Amino acid sequence: PRKIIIDTDPGQDDAVAILLALASPDELEVLGITAVAGNVPLPLTAKNARIVCELAGRADVAVYAGCDAPIARKLVTAEHVHGKTGLDGPDLPDPVMPLQEAHAVDFIIDTLRAHAPGTVTLCPLGPLTNIATAFTRAPDIVSRVQEIVLMGGAYFEVGNITPAAEFNIYVDPEAADIVFKSGAPIVVMPLDVTHKALVTKARNDAFRALGTPAGIAVAQMTDFFERFDKEKYGSEGAPLHDPCVTAYLLNPDLFSGRHINVAVETTSELTLGMTVADWWRVTERAPNALFIGDLDAEGFFTLLTDRLARL
Ligand code: BDR
Ligand code: CA
Repeated sequence: PRKIIIDTDPGQDDAVAILLALASPDELEVLGITAVAGNVPLPLTAKNARIVCELAGRADVAVYAGCDAPIARKLVTAEHVHGKTGLDGPDLPDPVMPLQEAHAVDFIIDTLRAHAPGTVTLCPLGPLTNIATAFTRAPDIVSRVQEIVLMGGAYFEVGNITPAAEFNIYVDPEAADIVFKSGAPIVVMPLDVTHKALVTKARNDAFRALGTPAGIAVAQMTDFFERFDKEKYGSEGAPLHDPCVTAYLLNPDLFSGRHINVAVETTSELTLGMTVADWWRVTERAPNALFIGDLDAEGFFTLLTDRLARL
């Protein structure tokens, strides 16, 4: 199986992404889960990550707490989307599994150094603070990364936190800038694709019909999480942003995109955190990412539901 580190700020959609990974041990080996401040403050994301591991019956997974604030800015959170706990919807028990003592950034650095170059993939599902801090502190690890498959940014779909920016990039644009300039191979799941991964009523019913704790919890999470997008965008249901990352690792053929240059705005007040994606290749800037634009939504939900059934 492919070795991955999930860097996350759960978040209902983060939770589903983690469940999908833990339900797929033949393809994905989760070396650890690193929590970052984002949707809610760090103590809650570190707690929610463990709640999700226990929901998957995987109290053995190592969960690390990382950075509690962006590199150069005050934390912006998203309780308006995810609720007070970050995981509103299901009524899940507090975790009993421990949080690891090491800092997430140290874990990321040590893990990349301990494994052969090109054998560990990073899966960031929140602001890029932990990853950028690790790259800055230990530049030698950048060339050891197999791939970074991240959720963040937007191009045609522009913003969900400001008119110009997607939440994960907006919260820590300096971190995103470091990652996009790092030279590591990057695959990006922007809003352009995640807004096509919508939990319709029928798809939600299919989760609930699994009748398992994980299936029911996912249905309840997406019931809660869809409110924001239904009200804001008139969308059909909850967009499963972060699970696009895990689904891509399981079946990249479900997705299509372009190798292009992606740059992050870090100074303008108006467009802070905008991912300037050279989709039409109108600049000379060298491609630094595979920017995904479309997915096979039916295939994605079939994969997700089938895998959740295994938990
Ligand atoms: C991203 O922001 C968070 O609210 C979600 O978990 C996702 O990672 C979508 O913009
Ligand atoms: Ca997230």
